[in-house]
Amino acid sequence: MKREDIDRIAAFVGDLKCKTQKEVEEARVRLLGKKGEITALFDDFRTVDRAQKAEFGKALNELKQKALARIEELKGTVSDSGESGAPKADLTMPGDPFELGSRHPVSIVRQEIVDIFRKFGYDVAEGPEIEDDYHVFEALNFPPNHPARDMQDTFFVSAGHPNPILLRTHTSSVQVRTMEKMDVPIRVICPGRVFRNEAISARAHCIFHQVEGLYIDEGVTFADLKQAILLFAREMFGPDTQIRMRPSYFPFTEPSAEVDVSCNICHGKGCNICKGTGWLEILGCGMVDPNVLEASGIDSKRYSGFAFGMGLERIAMLKWRVNDLRHYFENDMRFLHEFATAPEV
Ligand code: PHE
Repeated sequence: MKREDIDRIAAFVGDLKCKTQKEVEEARVRLLGKKGEITALFDDFRTVDRAQKAEFGKALNELKQKALARIEELKGTVSDSGESGAPKADLTMPGDPFELGSRHPVSIVRQEIVDIFRKFGYDVAEGPEIEDDYHVFEALNFPPNHPARDMQDTFFVSAGHPNPILLRTHTSSVQVRTMEKMDVPIRVICPGRVFRNEAISARAHCIFHQVEGLYIDEGVTFADLKQAILLFAREMFGPDTQIRMRPSYFPFTEPSAEVDVSCNICHGKGCNICKGTGWLEILGCGMVDPNVLEASGIDSKRYSGFAFGMGLERIAMLKWRVNDLRHYFENDMRFLHEFATAPEV
């Protein structure tokens, strides 16, 4: 084998032009077929001097790669009918659609709520999802044997501890951490993921999202709470929205209330979403119990405050009439794409 043989064939490959697929196949056979010129050089390789083996081997491999690449290129550009150079691809075909993602409905609702409360002067506070019993229950005035601490409701990480480690069941724990860290006046909202040991169904899930809020200052009254919730409800559900408060109980607030908004679907006439009542429950709230203030070092004689908390999946359900909580977690593209056109918030 001579160096010239390799160079000659390389020049031939470089200039190779074909008009039809048949010619491409002929060129392939001539170069790389069983009796092809390049194949023959590989057969000759045995006879090359040992000193030149490395150099020739490299040149031969490069030649083979070059020939293969040129043949592939010609295959792709030469049409069957012999119109050399005509691209094989149909350039009039529409392009592949570029799939844009969309925001998750829970994210959309969270952002909307955060924006509303930012306008009212609230800051956003965040805290750990893996918490201790103290911040989730004890500092919030839960009696030692309160059922919410029970294994049935709470996921424990380590239960045997004097201050058990657990997955937070509400973001009220972030409010405790805020009271410990910040000076009064405090005005925060705490969005986040929470965990409860519940069987998964259309109406309940073991993971969901909350936004809770806390406002503490001198002279804060129930009237302030009611006004804040009313303004929020009107921003969220429309200017004609009415609210009503029903007495309720939470260990950390006294008095406590549950808040309903007028049904924005039937406007109070009664429909299957509001189960004929004209009202939809959206949140729990109340005046922060003095014990809770004192536990975090806030003088309950001087300061008072209110707190509220709501579930984002529920608000999104009401907003878009989603009828099954499980949709939020399944990442079914058909469901998620319904929100692609939801207004960017
Ligand atoms: N933490 C309560 C819950 O998880 C909600 C709430 C917050 C109620 C603040 C009253 C005041 O359900």
